[in-house]
Amino acid sequence: MATVSVDDVKIHFEDSGGDGMPVLFVHAFPLGAQMWEPQVEALQDRFRTITVDLQGFGDSGAPDDRTSYSMDTFAAQAKAVVDQLALNQVVLVGLSMGGYAALAFMRNYPGSATALVLADTRAEADSDEARAKRTKQQERIEAGDRDGVIETLVKGLLAEGTLSGKPDVVARVKRLMDNPPAGFIGALEAMKTRPDSTADLARIGIPTLVITGENDSITPRESAVKLQDYIGGARLVIVPDAGHLSNLEAPEAFNGALLEFLTELETA
Ligand code: MLT
Repeated sequence: MATVSVDDVKIHFEDSGGDGMPVLFVHAFPLGAQMWEPQVEALQDRFRTITVDLQGFGDSGAPDDRTSYSMDTFAAQAKAVVDQLALNQVVLVGLSMGGYAALAFMRNYPGSATALVLADTRAEADSDEARAKRTKQQERIEAGDRDGVIETLVKGLLAEGTLSGKPDVVARVKRLMDNPPAGFIGALEAMKTRPDSTADLARIGIPTLVITGENDSITPRESAVKLQDYIGGARLVIVPDAGHLSNLEAPEAFNGALLEFLTELETA
């Protein structure tokens, strides 16, 4: 198991190795690096895939201090993996919270990414209403109801069609959410306090692919269109029959868009 220590927190990552173009995947809340299994399987013959468990998730450490969780901390953990592997640059892929962290990565380490994939994510900060909702979730988790919060989250994250017609995906998502309460509380804090990244978008001067599930109700279509509009030359792909976790709900379409983008980068 590969790890790197960042500010005394153990950060776990998986690296397929090989000579291919390195692609670093950053996961959503409240899942971990394993959510990228369908992408790793599809890509690893041709690309070097790297997945990271952010602090609080998967096999990484989960500090109790919620103020130690932020998008800057998450970005620093992704950068530490890049440095540990002695890579100069990676293609950075972030889904939802992973996208918020990817935007912080672009702000803090702009020279370390050659291309960017932003999936089911947004540049805007939380509204007051969204913050209040997250505070309630933190309180429920503190009161011992992590599993109840998981049930609520699953219903919001997945499309109707997935919930009713793909029980294997629903079960897999629940398994992927089996993370420590401290990780939930900390990441909710990080999302509540994340800055608005809209002003940074015009400075992202690298090829960018924006992907979003057709039925994503957490990050609406307008947020994806805004990313495309503000990031020069960005491409937008809508994944049919998918909600917020488009990479797990419709992996073939997601992987198709990703492979096309990566192949173009290879030949550019
Ligand atoms: C995620 O999928 O990472 C979260 O749902 C994002 C959010 O709640 O803003």
